[in-house]
Amino acid sequence: MPSLSKYALALEDVTCTFASHESRPRDTSLAIAPGEFVSVVGPTGCGKSTLLNVSAGLLEPSSGTVKVFGETLKGINRRAGYMFQADALMPWRSALDNVTAGLAFQGVSKSEADARGEEWLKRVGLGGFGDRYPHQLSGGMRKRVAMGQTLILDPDIILMDEPFSALDIQTRQLIENELLDLWAAKRKAVLFITHDLDEAISMSDRVVVLAAGPGAHPIGEFTIDLPRPRDVAEIRSHPRFVRAARTDLGLGDLHPPLGDADRNGARVRHRHGGGARRRPLARARADDERAPRSLHQGRQLDAARDSRAHLRGVVRARHLVEGRAGRHARVFHRVLQRLHQGMKEVSPVVLANARMLGANRKQLLRHVYLPSATSWVFSSLHTSVGLAFVGSVVGEYLGSARGVGYLILQAEGTFDINTVFAGILVLTAFALVLDGLVALVERRLMKWQPRSGKTKSFSRSRAWSAWSHTARHMPSGWARHRARQNVSLWFAQFDYVLRG
Ligand SMILES: Nc1ncnc2c1ncn2[C@@H]1O[C@H](COP(=O)(O)OP(=O)(O)OP(=O)(O)O)[C@@H](O)[C@H]1O
Ligand SMILES: [Mg+2]
Repeated sequence: MPSLSKYALALEDVTCTFASHESRPRDTSLAIAPGEFVSVVGPTGCGKSTLLNVSAGLLEPSSGTVKVFGETLKGINRRAGYMFQADALMPWRSALDNVTAGLAFQGVSKSEADARGEEWLKRVGLGGFGDRYPHQLSGGMRKRVAMGQTLILDPDIILMDEPFSALDIQTRQLIENELLDLWAAKRKAVLFITHDLDEAISMSDRVVVLAAGPGAHPIGEFTIDLPRPRDVAEIRSHPRFVRAARTDLGLGDLHPPLGDADRNGARVRHRHGGGARRRPLARARADDERAPRSLHQGRQLDAARDSRAHLRGVVRARHLVEGRAGRHARVFHRVLQRLHQGMKEVSPVVLANARMLGANRKQLLRHVYLPSATSWVFSSLHTSVGLAFVGSVVGEYLGSARGVGYLILQAEGTFDINTVFAGILVLTAFALVLDGLVALVERRLMKWQPRSGKTKSFSRSRAWSAWSHTARHMPSGWARHRARQNVSLWFAQFDYVLRG
């Protein structure tokens, strides 16, 4: 291997061992020259994303070193931009604000950042979509925003983790060509991860194949000597492409091994020796034994546990009969608790992305943790305000000699159903107004959140049609009789529960 200082990125004997004691990757060396486009292919779970995380400085390898332009990497790789495998856009920022996030973290003025952001949105084909939030964009559009967000910072090394794997073939080829154009203009070092061999060959200067299994490591490395500039769709019919895809990287059966035949002028050269040479990808696939664990599973379990704990709290309802100040303190405490919970539950990918974009601790708190926690706070406000309200009324009902609760109690004593009903209506209206106020503030502050407007209006219209159907088909005298019966029954239950 030539001197490592010549490389933009050099991994030397990198091994990552996780708690399961499996090493993926193991003893992996990989070097990318400035301006070189290198793809890594390999079966799922073999450690491709782990390699990128190590290159980005987000994960420290268990052994081995990472060098960036000859310097040993410590902490985040500031010369790299990272396009993550999962959605990593900040959902609370518009497309434009996402593209300009890195510039904002660097302290570039808003007007300049916006001007550059608009320009980049146009370059990635999203001119005019700057004010859309991520949930209002398609998967392909979100990938384009992520591309703009990474490339606007003009990094010397670009790390891309299966950036287009979720897209349909047409969109994918379109964006791949755009990426190649952008890369050709600046010639940065690219480390591109993909499952797709055709994608790897059509875009890269070199393809590295990783094996699967507990000791995943490169088992083949191939120089792709196809002419540039390339169109990823057209290049697939080039004889050299066919040779590379079907023969050299292991998808064909009958062809001679790498480099043996130059019959079509193919010059795809192998560097690794041994049996891996012929069909490394096929071999690698055979080794694959299990899909990786979802990184979000643990969080989902935590969330489920949390909601069960919350339910238990509601059922216990100790605070219903405590003092008013205590109840207010509890609401405040609950909101703080949820704020803390929301901060803990921030998406690890969004957080890692913000760190790669250069956010410092204060910026992470302000631009990632707090916005992420606000939805938790609002969900808590809805319940807490409701519970505090019920608590107040019930407390008043039990202990006070005035107020709506007292009125209901008195009316119940004299079987004055109309007053009881009126009291309950007043309370319900008050609760609805309170909830509406919280919802109003939430809508103002949380514009970025997806809303299920259609489902809501659908269920509302279903409820309404069910009600009007019943009303139309019931004799009115009988309906009044049933309504009165229901209210009495409801009130009796209410009374029974409160008096134990
Ligand atoms: N933080 C972690 N803790 C424990 N195990 C981990 C962690 N990160 C990765 N792994 C394990 O390391 C292995 C490689 O994971 P990685 O995400 O790098 O695979 P991959 O090749 O990118 O897979 P895919 O193609 O499906 O994206 C998996 O078996 C995974 O379970
Ligand atoms: Mg991966």
